[in-house]
Amino acid sequence: MQAFEIVGGNRLRGSLTIGGSKNAALPIMAACLMCEGESVLHNVPDLADVRQLMVLLGRLGVVCERDDSGAMHIRVEDEMNTHAEYELVSKMRASVCVMGPLLGKRRCAQVSMPGGCAIGDRPIDLHVRGLEALGAESELAYGDVVLKTKKLKGSEIFLGGPFGSSVTATANVMMAATMAEGRTIIASAACEPEVVDLANFLNACGAQIKGQGTPQITIDGVKSLQGTEHTIIPDRIEAGTFLVASAITNGDLKLENARLDHLLAAVEQLRQVGVIIERTEKGMEVSSSRRLEPVKITTQPFPGFPTDLQAQTMALLCLADGNSVITEKIFPDRFLHVAELNRMGARLRKEGPTVIIEGVKRLIGAPVMASDLRASAALVLAGLIAKGKTRVHRIYHIDRGYERIEEKLQSVGANIKRVND
Ligand code: EPZ
Repeated sequence: MQAFEIVGGNRLRGSLTIGGSKNAALPIMAACLMCEGESVLHNVPDLADVRQLMVLLGRLGVVCERDDSGAMHIRVEDEMNTHAEYELVSKMRASVCVMGPLLGKRRCAQVSMPGGCAIGDRPIDLHVRGLEALGAESELAYGDVVLKTKKLKGSEIFLGGPFGSSVTATANVMMAATMAEGRTIIASAACEPEVVDLANFLNACGAQIKGQGTPQITIDGVKSLQGTEHTIIPDRIEAGTFLVASAITNGDLKLENARLDHLLAAVEQLRQVGVIIERTEKGMEVSSSRRLEPVKITTQPFPGFPTDLQAQTMALLCLADGNSVITEKIFPDRFLHVAELNRMGARLRKEGPTVIIEGVKRLIGAPVMASDLRASAALVLAGLIAKGKTRVHRIYHIDRGYERIEEKLQSVGANIKRVND
């Protein structure tokens, strides 16, 4: 296994280009299952999760190949297999995104229940409820959800759950509804930019979707979808992670190809902390005042503060001048980074879905364990400012969602290298 070895203290300076969004690319790749002809996707990040989905799509008769420019060419060659097996789905939960396209195009989907992961239970009851509302019959068979239907019929669907809207359930139901007969209305739909990017891709393929980005999405079914060319939006969570990297090292970073309008809640909160964030022609510039103010943050569905930036922001608030509070409303157990940050001298106390963060003067380098994608990123950020050396173990978690993060950080002055553990 590999680890990152980081020596803290360097202020990051220079510019970084933000890559394509993992959470937009994955459902859009899955949507190509429904298309006639070839789709060409630009700005698909080179991540472990993307490579994993390419393997699963291959098993489902969908060929995905990158050309020399990095563009991904996707076309359906065989529609026989409709089974997304446990050995693949258990490696990457987002594989559940093939459920809607399989049902929409092949009228059958057998997808392994993804099970839990480091950030908590990952139920798919909203996915199944939404697809049943379109006429699918579901049953559980040896850990797989099997959905079948002769015909999908549009209907009105409420997709809200106990933690608000669901991003991938909205994606799955929207994709299936594009090939249902008649009109579907999804109420309490997720408004994330990744859902908007998926809807825009589908419309370019000939779908009839309106209201994407609002809590009510209307889809009028069509007979077929034609592959198209599409550029994936920038990854707002990668951008947010580097916002924090600049702030925590008291650096001055220019982020190019970053969409400030996709990060307004996070930018607002970070400005209250004392982070200076200015819009530039190509994205944004980030620096910070020496003194960081404590704040209270609650994670919410978009456009609220993103749960995927909770861990990274906690690392920054460890050094604020006073007590901050973070409440996690989306994944209440998403706190595996708390114990590891405390090993670095942070003073964090978890009380249910809330963590009290008592600001400290400094963090001290230590060997720490990555656990999930964003918690691991938080440990890297803490290592960038901690006194001395930090070794972050099990960094395969990071490679799932960040493309060569150590090279990007090295290019702006960080003392970080990838080593064999
Ligand atoms: C997407 O996951 C993202 N992943 C996650 O990013 C992100 O944290 C999450 O949305 C929230 O923004 C992808 O897009 C591939 P949800 P998703 O369904 O769709 C509950 C990362 O780091 N729920 O919006 O799986 C669920 O338990 C990843 O890139 C149900 O109760 O999340 C959670 O509490 C991590 N029943 C809440 O809804 C369901 O059927 C929101 O989950 C589905 C979800």
